[in-house]
Amino acid sequence: MTATPRPLVAGNWKMNGLREDGVALARAIAESRRAAGEVRCEVLICPPATLLQAVADAIAGSAVVLGAQDCHAEAGGAHTGDVSAEMLADLGCRYVIVGHSERRAGHGESSALVRRKAEAAHRAGLAAIVCLGESAAERDAGATVETVSRQFAQSMPEAANSADTVLAYEPVWAIGSGRTPTPGQIAEVHGHLRALLVARYGGDGRTMRILYGGSVKAENASALFAAAEVDGALVGGASLEAAEFMAIVRAKG
Ligand code: PGA
Repeated sequence: MTATPRPLVAGNWKMNGLREDGVALARAIAESRRAAGEVRCEVLICPPATLLQAVADAIAGSAVVLGAQDCHAEAGGAHTGDVSAEMLADLGCRYVIVGHSERRAGHGESSALVRRKAEAAHRAGLAAIVCLGESAAERDAGATVETVSRQFAQSMPEAANSADTVLAYEPVWAIGSGRTPTPGQIAEVHGHLRALLVARYGGDGRTMRILYGGSVKAENASALFAAAEVDGALVGGASLEAAEFMAIVRAKG
């Protein structure tokens, strides 16, 4: 028998928030998580790098976990403007998102680089949330499974287990657009990713969490979570409002 993985709902704040509102949002989420009581779901927030320390302080002692949105592939050195996984771990981060489509598209990040970043996260003791997903053109061309398979093969670290790696399926066309795949379409991709995980990592692949991301809101969360093999969500816009974000957490239960 395989243990069911603990669900994860992660908030990706992207490049949003100054100190005052970031701290207020983190406090509100921590308070709401406390009030929610028995929720099995793990709650993670990933603020911009500038807010990591302030948010770490704001959620200290709560069940809310801290993560970052990106890291460099090296542990340190001459990389102006970059932040290493070790630095994030030093601030109290437990997770780091790697390979988000906004970094793949906006910063030209290749799957090979994403893989190195995931391995850097592991070396620093962080869990990596590895993102992948097809563009609108790839879906329209019927190339969704082919695209995510290629990204999976090239982006996932050589060694991974269910504690140190999370996979996030985020169709590019669903991010920030208000559009989502149907639960059936999500189940199809997640089922395929599950098979790839098991083929590559054996038993650990069975319990590794697969998140769905892209326009998850309080109003559609229950329907999206009902799809097979959806172990949680990576939430952008709807994670910037505590009540909305926590409604998504409660929908996962
Ligand atoms: P969204 O973003 O929820 O605003 O669509 C999701 C993401 O990019 O992780």
